[in-house]
Amino acid sequence: MRHFLWLCDYTKEEIKEIIELGFQIKKETKNGVYKPYLKHQQLAMIFEKSSTRTRVSFEAGINQLGGNGLFLSSRDIQLGRGEPLKDTARVITRMVDLVMIRTFGQERLEEFAEYSKVPVINGLTDLCHPVQLLADLMTMIEFDKFDFNSPESTTVAYVGDGNNMANSWAVLAAKLGFSLRIATPQGYEIDESIRVKALEFAEKSGAKIEFLYDPKAAVKDADVVTTDTWVSMGQEDEKEKRINDFKGFEVDAGLMSLAKKDAIFLHCLPAYRGYEVSEEVFENHADEIFSEAENRLHAQKGLMVWLKK
Ligand code: CP
Ligand code: NVA
Repeated sequence: MRHFLWLCDYTKEEIKEIIELGFQIKKETKNGVYKPYLKHQQLAMIFEKSSTRTRVSFEAGINQLGGNGLFLSSRDIQLGRGEPLKDTARVITRMVDLVMIRTFGQERLEEFAEYSKVPVINGLTDLCHPVQLLADLMTMIEFDKFDFNSPESTTVAYVGDGNNMANSWAVLAAKLGFSLRIATPQGYEIDESIRVKALEFAEKSGAKIEFLYDPKAAVKDADVVTTDTWVSMGQEDEKEKRINDFKGFEVDAGLMSLAKKDAIFLHCLPAYRGYEVSEEVFENHADEIFSEAENRLHAQKGLMVWLKK
C-alpha cells in the first residue's frame, strides 16, 4: 500500500505513470466514457482548512470513477472537538477505501497515515501541495512546455512566497530534471529541509535549481512563470507585514515580458489580483490557469486509480 504524502517518496517513473493514467482517463471522460475504475470505493475527504478546487475535484473525480466521496469538515466531525487524530484515522479507515486530508502541519498527515489501513493522499499541508503539482505538470505537458524525454528543455520561474507551492515545485523539478528558479524576498525562502532534499535529488536528475532574491533574474527566458498567494491559509495575521515585504514581487506585464514570448503563466488559485499577480497577466493567461484548475480533476483521478491498482 502506498500513500501520497509528498513527492519526495515518488520516482520520475511513478510520477509519469500517474500523469499518463490521468491523461488516459481525461480522454475517456471527454469522449463520454466513464469507466468504473473505483466502483463502490469510498473516499473520505477530511478538511481542516477551506477549499474550492480540492473539494470539488476529489468529490467529482471519485464519483466519476464509480465511487463516492464523503466530505468531512473538521468543524463538523468529532476531530474538531478534540477526538485524537489517530483514533479518527483508525475509525474512518476501517470504513473507507481511500482518504484525502487537508491539514496544517505535515506531521498531522503523517500521523494519520501511520494509523491508516488505506492509502492517504495529501490535499495540502503547510509544507506541500503535491496533488496541485500533478495538475500543473499535466498543464505544462498540454501546453508543450514539458516533455518527460527532455526535461532539461524546460525552465520554470516561481516568484513569491517560499511556501507549500514553492516547496512542491522544488521537489518536482528535482525529481523530473527540469530547471527551476525560485525568487523570494529575504526571510521567505523555501523550507530548509526541502531545499536540502531537492538539491540531493537534483544531483541525480541533473535538475538546475536556483534560489534567488531577484524576480527579474528568475523570470528571464523562462518557459513557465508561476506564483501563489503571499498570505497562505493560517497566516492571516501576518497579512499587512507580508504585503509590505513582498513589494516588487508582483507578476505584472513588465515582469512577464522578460520570460519567453510564448511563456505560460500558472497559478494554483485562489489568486489575489494586485498582489502576487496583476489583473492583466491573470486575464491574458486565463486559459492556462483554468486548464490547470480543471486538471486537478483529471490528475487526481489518475492518482486515485494508481493508488488502488
Ligand atoms: N489550489 C487549491 O488547492 O485550491 P483550493 O484551496 O480551492 O482547494
Ligand atoms: N499557499 C496556499 C495555497 C492554496 C491552495 C495556501 O496554503 O493557502
